[in-house]
Amino acid sequence: MCGIVGYIGPYQASDFLVEGLRRLEYRGYDSSGVVTIDDGEFTVTKSTGRVDDLVEKLKAHPARGSIGLGHTRWATHGPATEVNAHPHIGGDNVVALVHNGVIENFRELKQQLAERGYYCKSATDTEVVAQLVASEIDARCTAPNGAASNAAFSAADRYSALVDAVQAALSQLRGTYGLAMVFRDWPDVIIVARLGSPLVIGVGDDEHFVASDGSPLVGHTDRIVYLADHELAVVTTHSIRVIHRDEGDVRHKVNRLDIDTTQVELGGFPHYMLKEIFEQPETVTAAIRGRLNRDEATAVFGGLNLTAQQLRSIDRVVLTACGTSWHSALVGEYMIESFARIPVEVEYASELRYRNPPMSPHTVLFAITQSGETIDTLAALREMKRKGHPTLAICNVVGSTIAREADGGIYLHAGPEVGVASTKAYTSQCVVMALLALYFGRMRDLSFDAGLRIIDELAALPKYVEESLECNNETRRIAAKYAACNNFLYLGRQFNFPTALEGALKLKEISYIHAEGYPAAEMKHGPIALVDKHTPSVFIVPQGGVYSKVIANMEEIKARGGPVIAVVDKDDSQAVELADEVIHIPTVPEFLQPIVAAIPLQLLAYHAATFRGCDVDKPRNLAKSVTVE
Ligand code: G6P
Repeated sequence: MCGIVGYIGPYQASDFLVEGLRRLEYRGYDSSGVVTIDDGEFTVTKSTGRVDDLVEKLKAHPARGSIGLGHTRWATHGPATEVNAHPHIGGDNVVALVHNGVIENFRELKQQLAERGYYCKSATDTEVVAQLVASEIDARCTAPNGAASNAAFSAADRYSALVDAVQAALSQLRGTYGLAMVFRDWPDVIIVARLGSPLVIGVGDDEHFVASDGSPLVGHTDRIVYLADHELAVVTTHSIRVIHRDEGDVRHKVNRLDIDTTQVELGGFPHYMLKEIFEQPETVTAAIRGRLNRDEATAVFGGLNLTAQQLRSIDRVVLTACGTSWHSALVGEYMIESFARIPVEVEYASELRYRNPPMSPHTVLFAITQSGETIDTLAALREMKRKGHPTLAICNVVGSTIAREADGGIYLHAGPEVGVASTKAYTSQCVVMALLALYFGRMRDLSFDAGLRIIDELAALPKYVEESLECNNETRRIAAKYAACNNFLYLGRQFNFPTALEGALKLKEISYIHAEGYPAAEMKHGPIALVDKHTPSVFIVPQGGVYSKVIANMEEIKARGGPVIAVVDKDDSQAVELADEVIHIPTVPEFLQPIVAAIPLQLLAYHAATFRGCDVDKPRNLAKSVTVE
């Protein structure tokens, strides 16, 4: 939540800042702003709304200067007004600062600062940090006449006094932060710091970039430094110095960023969400690639980092996640329990982090997360790690905090997901769940033959995903017919209960239609009261063990006059008779149904949202990467 960019080098900073903010807009889009330093003065431009609104302002009043910062905001403290937009200025134009995270003790600090003459104008927690940094700089670096004294310090002293001041300010903060700041009297340096919120530095040729993640760097550099918690970096045009709170100066590692420009562009699609839906044959292939071993009839993973002994002794699996990733965990529960017979528990990360459930020493935790930055998922992982459990990440973003903090893990290799509503990451998570179920199953009761059959089915999956996409026109037609409805039910059983939850979530997050996902039989205990001719029920009813039961549930809805939209197998005969609308998916084994059935539901939500005129890629109030509690 909230995106940060920064630039220092020989070129106009605002070009990179604006382009970078567009790439980070998925992190929040309540307001945006930039600051540059030109001729020893800050130029601050802010706008409520989207980055496009900021660009219009910058066209009228360009922000010159070859050092600067930018920010796109997801409001936590204070509404989305210009005064609350970042950057925030501290003191008498001493520092300009952007922030991602939450400062929990900002009220106390605000009061203390006011007593010392540093007043905040905004309602944000961030401005307190700006004032705090300014007060520490003023205390350390100001000459007796009150002006910031460059002359009073040698060049080295000037920087160390500045770093001391920033560190002193940071030491007073409670909460989480990714921070980037520039200084009027040190116009050749950006200081960044992180605790709990992501920050990276891009290493260019005689220029450096700062960002919340790697996407703004694409096209500028493929060399990236990931800052760790409690680290602060002093970034100049030619150098990066990383200082850890407890360890002092530390060597930083320059990693390779493996994203290319086509992955972060629309490529002819009207929205990222649609592009990402249509990428699924490739992303599913990428999740499977190199992970099927026919000789051993099992899956292979390079990075679990657990010994064979540890793997065999696992007696319980905890899957933790948030949002859509939590739905893939539910799918994983069905898969792992049926293939491997290991008890699985699925926990909301936001609950798990504060619970203390009894766990055997051989419990393993998988944190499932597209971004690898969700704060609750990270906190749950840390909590389980603290208690000595092996922690593994199933993650899309390479080098993300959760990927780095877990003991090991599995990458999705789905490429950047830009649309706020997760699509391709979800199906890749389900694929990885199937691979894991196979892997654990083959370590236990699953026979060689059964393992080989699962491998064949997984190998054929990309073809089925391709076939699922053929329902695009049909879902568009159905969406047009029902887009005006205000309530939807999504119903499925067993493997497709999570599909129902995910379908409902997709619809509500991007089209703002209220939707509830329910186990099909359970709807009799409440949601059936909602059924009338204006409340469609979407049934996920492919062939399988519970097919006839779900058909009976469908009859119950029909008997009450509710329209039924049925997602069915190609060769279905009963559901097609009952349903008002039918969407066909390929016939696949039950464990793969959540993957192929998710696709029409993604498309249904997408088309409903576009018919309702919603901003599909940037739904109101949401952000893709939730880095605050
Ligand atoms: C936000 C996003 C969802 C996502 C969830 C978990 O709510 O809008 O699309 O599923 O966070 O994110 P993660 O990156 O941990 O999968």
